[in-house]
Amino acid sequence: SWPSYIKYHGLALPPGAHSEDSLEYAENFSVEDTDVFSVTYPKSGTVWMQEILPLVLNGGDLTPIQTIPNWDRVPWLEEKRLKVVVDQLPSPRALVTHFPYELMPQSFFSSKAKVIYVMRNPKDVAVSSYYFHQMATFLEDPGTWEEFIDKFLEGRVMFGKWTNHVKSWRHTELGDRIMYITYEQMIQDLPAALRLMSDFLGKNLSDEVIEKISSHCSFKSMQANIMSNFTLVPKIYMNSDKSQFLRKGVVGDWKNHFSSKQLAHFSSVIYKELEA
Ligand code: PPS
Repeated sequence: SWPSYIKYHGLALPPGAHSEDSLEYAENFSVEDTDVFSVTYPKSGTVWMQEILPLVLNGGDLTPIQTIPNWDRVPWLEEKRLKVVVDQLPSPRALVTHFPYELMPQSFFSSKAKVIYVMRNPKDVAVSSYYFHQMATFLEDPGTWEEFIDKFLEGRVMFGKWTNHVKSWRHTELGDRIMYITYEQMIQDLPAALRLMSDFLGKNLSDEVIEKISSHCSFKSMQANIMSNFTLVPKIYMNSDKSQFLRKGVVGDWKNHFSSKQLAHFSSVIYKELEA
C-alpha cells in the first residue's frame, strides 16, 4: 500500500513519479531560452498538451506521438523521468509542470522560455480528480464525493489548492512569454486553440497542418493511442477497472456530480479565494 505523500514547500506530491531527487533536479534544472512549458493544475489538460506541443513544434510530424509514451515525450519538470530522457528531447524542448509559479527553477525566471497556462473549470477538475484518485494506487483514497469536495477545497490533495495554483500564475512578470488558454476553449474549437498556440510559439502552420494536428489530438484519437492512453502503465499503478485516465473528456460533467448545496458551497469558496 502506497501513499505517504512527499512534502515539498508545503505541497503534497504523490510518491512513485516524484522523489526528493527529482525535486532537487527540477529546482536546479537549466532552462533554455527555447523551452516551452505547459503549466496546469492536475486534471486540467496536461496529457492533452503532451500530444499537442510536439506536433505544433515540429509542424505535424506524428513520429513522437506514435513512438514515445507521453511522459517521456513531454516530461514533467518535477518527475523522475525528466533526468532519464532530458538528453533525448528534441529542440525546442517541450515540458509540462504542475508547479505553482514560485516553485519554477531559478533559471526559468531569467530565461526567455515560454509558458502556455491551461486552466479548466475547477468543478470539472474536482470530478476528474475524484475518479483519478480511485484508479491511481499512488494517490490517497478520495473517500466519498462529499468528503473529496472538502479535501479539494482545502487543498488536501496533490499540488494543493486549485485557487493557489491559478492565482500564482495569474500575475507574473512574464509579459508576452505566457499565454492563457482554457480546456473549455480547446473543447469548443480545437483548431482555433491550436492556431493561438502556434502563433504564440512563432510557428506559421498551414490550415491543413492545424487540421491534421487537431484530428490526432481528439479525445478519440488519444484514447486509441497506446503512447497516450496510459494502458502501458501496469494495473498496480493505475487500475483501469475503476476508471480510465482518458475518462470522459467533456465540459460540464460536474452537473452529474454536484448537488445544489455542494455547488453553492464550492462556488462560494472558490470565488472568495479568487478575489482575495
Ligand atoms: S494529469 O494527471 O494532471 O496529468 O491529468 P490531465 O491530463 O491534466 O487531465 C486529465 C483530463 O483531461 C482529459 N483529456 C482530454 N479531454 C478532451 N480531449 C482530449 N484530447 C483529452 N486528453 C485528456 C482527460 O479525459 C481527463 O479529464 P476527465 O474529465 O477525467 O475525462
